[in-house]
Amino acid sequence: MTPRLRFEAISKSFPGVNALSDVSFDVAPSEIHGLLGENGAGKSTLLRILSGVFRPTSGSMFVDGENVSFRKPMDARGAGIAMIHQELQQVPHLSVAQNMFLGHPLTTVGGLFVSRREQERRAAEALSMIEPGIDPAAPISSLKVAQRQIVEIARALLDRARIIAMDEPTSSLTPSEFERLAEVITKLSASGVTIIYVSHKMDEVFRICQRASVMRDGKLVGAVDVQTASHQDVITMMVGRELMQEQHVSHATATVKLEARGLSSLTKIRDASFKLHRGEVLGIAGLVGSGRTELLRLLAGADRLTAGAIDIDGKTVNLRNPRDAISAGIGLVPEERKRGDHPRPLGHHQHGTCLARKLLQSRHHSGRQVAQHGSGPAAPRQSQAFPVGQTDPALQRW
Ligand SMILES: Nc1ncnc2c1ncn2[C@@H]1O[C@H](COP(=O)(O)OP(=O)(O)OP(=O)(O)O)[C@@H](O)[C@H]1O
Ligand SMILES: [Mg+2]
Repeated sequence: MTPRLRFEAISKSFPGVNALSDVSFDVAPSEIHGLLGENGAGKSTLLRILSGVFRPTSGSMFVDGENVSFRKPMDARGAGIAMIHQELQQVPHLSVAQNMFLGHPLTTVGGLFVSRREQERRAAEALSMIEPGIDPAAPISSLKVAQRQIVEIARALLDRARIIAMDEPTSSLTPSEFERLAEVITKLSASGVTIIYVSHKMDEVFRICQRASVMRDGKLVGAVDVQTASHQDVITMMVGRELMQEQHVSHATATVKLEARGLSSLTKIRDASFKLHRGEVLGIAGLVGSGRTELLRLLAGADRLTAGAIDIDGKTVNLRNPRDAISAGIGLVPEERKRGDHPRPLGHHQHGTCLARKLLQSRHHSGRQVAQHGSGPAAPRQSQAFPVGQTDPALQRW
């Protein structure tokens, strides 16, 4: 059977980086094909080539056996290829239908503009295939992210897309929203559409894909049959070595770097004590509202102590404000890194205790955990971002 899509020896170089080297694989009609790989493996670059955003440095692509070459995204659209980006590119004050028709070749037919009513009719038709509950006349901003993603998929159906590429579509979806998206994807594939599904989340790929290609450092490591492969096999392919799961390594040394003694605050903290050793990764676990953030704010000088003391290298420090904390070598990466309503660093510090770095790393391999007062067992929290190897910009400043 002719594959729906074939990549043949695709390479792409950017100055100083070989983002893709000699990538070849096939995807069958109706297949849901996963694309897995660590950060920087080249997944998005491959999808951008497929959707006409980049041209490959070398190599060829075939759609239903026909050699295709795209100079711009519109060329790829014309060949029945749609791309669902992670960051939705919708205009909030326009309606669902208007967004679906935005920049669409069908906006005009035979030189005439398609009327709003006609746009809504066609939008409703496309939506009815996957999510009839969405009103094409509603403002797009009234929809939840998951529904807006479904609108993007319906938009692809307006183009009669044969191939839909999705780049990490679920990073802002809840598990139940993922289930809905999974249903939509399965339905599309049953109707003959080929899906390429990029994700970091192996569970998702195992749940919806039939096969998955695994990339590492711009190269294709191999393809797996999701029915028979194990998670461990795929992880090994992704990282190039076996990872011991559930491995907890404590880097603690005998030297106490920071000691919290009986800390209390007007916020939530009551008599909190712990020791942080040099080189240690210390996790702080607790339910929402148990005071984890407040404890860190105390250490960062953002809130005042009402009792207790903080020692660094055995000396008590008086942290009246963030400036004092920074001078004492304590950096804070706040919970909402992008919002920026946190105490700002006032300069670069080389002697940082860098508690925050330790805390962030602790999501991946915590050495030891402190449970917060009044909390039950720690609910494992999903790691938000920045897997090993990628540095959160908020950390770089420390
Ligand atoms: N426009 C660009 N200019 C220069 N380098 C780029 C460009 N786009 C991607 N790269 C580089 O190409 C490599 C592959 O990046 P790509 O974004 O494709 O990875 P990815 O697998 O999608 O990663 P992630 O999981 O983080 O999204 C990286 O080293 C990246 O820095
Ligand atoms: Mg990417």
